[in-house]
Amino acid sequence: MLRRPLGRTGLQVSEIGFGAASWWGKPQFSETEAVRLVHAALDGGVTLFDTGASYSGGQAEPRLGRALKGRDTSNLVVATKAGTFARGRRIGRDFSPAAIVASAERSLRNLGLESLPLLQLHGPALDEFTDDLRDALAGLKARGLVRALGVNSFDPAVIDHAIGLADFEVVMVDYNVLRPEREPLIARAAAAGKGVLAGMPLAMGHTGGRVANIQAPRDLWYAARGLLRHRREVRDGARFGFLNHLPRMTGAQAALAYVLVNRDVACAVAGTTRLRHLAENLAASGMVLPAETLAAIRVRQA
Ligand SMILES: NC(=O)c1ccc[n+]([C@@H]2O[C@H](COP(=O)([O-])OP(=O)(O)OC[C@H]3O[C@@H](n4cnc5c(N)ncnc54)[C@H](OP(=O)(O)O)[C@@H]3O)[C@@H](O)[C@H]2O)c1
Repeated sequence: MLRRPLGRTGLQVSEIGFGAASWWGKPQFSETEAVRLVHAALDGGVTLFDTGASYSGGQAEPRLGRALKGRDTSNLVVATKAGTFARGRRIGRDFSPAAIVASAERSLRNLGLESLPLLQLHGPALDEFTDDLRDALAGLKARGLVRALGVNSFDPAVIDHAIGLADFEVVMVDYNVLRPEREPLIARAAAAGKGVLAGMPLAMGHTGGRVANIQAPRDLWYAARGLLRHRREVRDGARFGFLNHLPRMTGAQAALAYVLVNRDVACAVAGTTRLRHLAENLAASGMVLPAETLAAIRVRQA
């Protein structure tokens, strides 16, 4: 597994990260299998694990903590998020300084860590970057509870705002074959020294008509999520079915290799609930996307 520097944080991360989110974190998915996936990721050289206080109805973060228990976490970048929280089946938001500090303290307990390597604001609005919040975040760093701060948003204006603020060293953006329009934003972030994490590098699995491939209840859940909340990925992803028929790599590997062609990206954070998919995703590290495949992707992006 190859590693890349995470901007100017001084941290190195595996170029493929593990997304501890979605079905992986849900109680309906076996804890034994979920833990096995994390251990396989560790054994495969993954050093970046991405989760969030609100992921999987609030269940993903404590599950990741249980999976990492007893493991050497000193070289890992466990990244979590604050500002959103699970409220029953809904997601609540609170970017007040007190709520963010309480969330970070809860994350430390959930993850069994003494310090969070990376705390990201999870989808803040522009007017939520208050001086009081920035002071509270600086306080978390001063207490040694957080090493680096980041912002995760799918709103380019929010990422651009974070790029202009010295407090935030990392940004997580939605970047995949369906999102070439993120490339200038990623270039600006990297030029400002920010570490860039690509969330959704597999476009939630929708590159290539995955939504129709139902083999287990989890697949129904992913398909329903796509049809209800991510129709753009489902619609646009269908154009990239050819990635599943390449001679030397699978569709997921091609999707990850596309993201990693961009040297401004430190890590592609991919989620999975299947060991064979994890093995495939980890093997994408170091794969070279053939020039003709890149050209074919560009044609479909135009
Ligand atoms: N902050 C946010 O709002 C936000 C939003 C989205 C994502 N993220 C971050 O980004 C991470 C990754 O997002 P994601 O796009 O990977 O979505 P995801 O929600 O984790 O879903 C991944 C999908 O791709 C499938 N998949 C994974 N590997 C595969 C393979 N090798 N072949 C075929 N299918 C495969 C998975 O199915 P199987 O389980 O069957 O492998 C699943 O359906 C998340 O886990 C999270 O950490 C953040």
